Amino acid sequence: MLIKTAEFLMSNQDYTKCPQDNIPEIAFIGRSNVGKSSLINMLTNNFNLAKTSSTPGKTQLINHFLINKSWYLVDLPGFGYAKVSKTLREKFKKIIDDYVLKRPNLICLFVLVDSRIPAQKIDLEYMYWLGLNSVPFKIIFTKADKLGVNVLKRNIKEYEVKLAEYWETLPDFIITSSINRQGKEELLNYIESIL
Ligand code: GTP
Ligand code: MG
Repeated sequence: MLIKTAEFLMSNQDYTKCPQDNIPEIAFIGRSNVGKSSLINMLTNNFNLAKTSSTPGKTQLINHFLINKSWYLVDLPGFGYAKVSKTLREKFKKIIDDYVLKRPNLICLFVLVDSRIPAQKIDLEYMYWLGLNSVPFKIIFTKADKLGVNVLKRNIKEYEVKLAEYWETLPDFIITSSINRQGKEELLNYIESIL
């Protein structure tokens, strides 16, 4: 799929205030700083579309971007970052949990995890919770450019071993980098297949 247009539509803190239409949407979720906003910019070839920062907690709202005038990409606040205050963490959690469970337009959630670090309990438990709530999701490994091929392979294998503690059939994943655009085609093709 080619992305021809990508427009920022609106930001808000409440799923009930999201666009009231039947346009399908895909949302990016994951711990703060994992690279959600960067990946949205990479996919849309617009490095000013979603706000990114090396400081965790940059995205604080549910942000809707209209793609090709026919579907939404949604950027969400990160969860669980220790350096973000507890109050802010709880506020984000409420916003994103409500959104994930109650937004009818959501057809797939991409759960981003950093390919450089071992599987984190918070991510594994989050995916398990998605499963319990029948929320369709796919794992996206980010920042693959920071690793050599062999280390990347080893990390993914180790991640699969951890996932197997929770899942009989392992969830699908795509490996990406917002820097060298790895995974772009695969991700866009997958989105096209579910729209
Ligand atoms: P919050 O909005 O705080 O939840 O973070 P986020 O998940 O949206 O992360 P963001 O896209 O703002 O990126 C966080 C930092 O990681 C920034 O400094 C990015 O430049 C960097 N980053 C994101 N993706 C990649 C990547 O694929 N490769 C490399 N090397 N750096 C990345
Ligand atoms: Mg962000």
